[in-house]
Amino acid sequence: MSKRDKPSPYDAPELYDLLLDAFDFDIPFWQKVAREAKGPVLEAGCGSGRVLLRLLESGFDADGFDLSGPMIERFRIKAGAKGWEGRAVVADMRDFSLPRRYARVICAFNGFAHCESTDDQLRALRCFRAHLEPGGALVLHMSYPGPRYWLDPDGVPTLEIEAENSASGRTLQMWDTRTKDPVAQFQRSEIEIRELDLSGRTVSSHRFSTAQRWVYRFELELLFRQAGFSRWKIRGGFDDAPLDKPDDQMIAWAWSDRSVGRAG
Ligand SMILES: C[S@@+](CC[C@H](N)C(=O)[O-])C[C@H]1O[C@@H](n2cnc3c(N)ncnc32)[C@H](O)[C@@H]1O
Repeated sequence: MSKRDKPSPYDAPELYDLLLDAFDFDIPFWQKVAREAKGPVLEAGCGSGRVLLRLLESGFDADGFDLSGPMIERFRIKAGAKGWEGRAVVADMRDFSLPRRYARVICAFNGFAHCESTDDQLRALRCFRAHLEPGGALVLHMSYPGPRYWLDPDGVPTLEIEAENSASGRTLQMWDTRTKDPVAQFQRSEIEIRELDLSGRTVSSHRFSTAQRWVYRFELELLFRQAGFSRWKIRGGFDDAPLDKPDDQMIAWAWSDRSVGRAG
């Protein structure tokens, strides 16, 4: 990860959860992936458990890990009552070694975009592959930034998410000020999370920074090949549609087995 002058948003898991834990747009997809896996699932970059806890609640055999100690601590608090706190550990997707092998390794919600260099991407893909059972698959969800995204002006604070803190009755807002580099396929985000009282006055402000490196279809296919995957398919959206338009979501599958060739 690159050097930052501000903390990462993943250092503040309570705020992350207030803003994002209710997001469930992708949950039916991950439940389908887990159901069809017919074996254990590992979530890389599981954070505070937005996806992982829902998989466990649905009865799937799932584990997770995340680079952020605070996110894993938050996961453990939420999972504690059900006895699931041990299902997630702190680890770095670029260099990890866990005792189990999995039918699926999944990486949701742009987690893989936190690998900011080709070296980081390859290291992570090789680690994912090493944790798959023979015939198992990696499933990545990433945005597929197209012209609309790249042409958006830089440096403009944009309200990305607004949510109510039901405990305090206050409103939380997440403002994102992006600087993008289309050549480097890179986005730096200065994030401000504001808490507003009932009159709309800002009563607290928390500042973070983060970065993401986007990856495109044919580059990702080369990365899969280089990391030793034997076949792959890259689709658009969560419904297995072809990836045929930019500014969409990309679902990339890569299998670790002995057959050679490419699918999809
Ligand atoms: C956008 S969040 C997604 C969290 C969760 N999967 C979800 O869908 O809500 C990305 C997560 O990736 C984690 N992450 C970033 N770099 C990582 C790395 N090198 N290894 C493991 N996790 C990492 C962050 O700490 C963060 O929790």
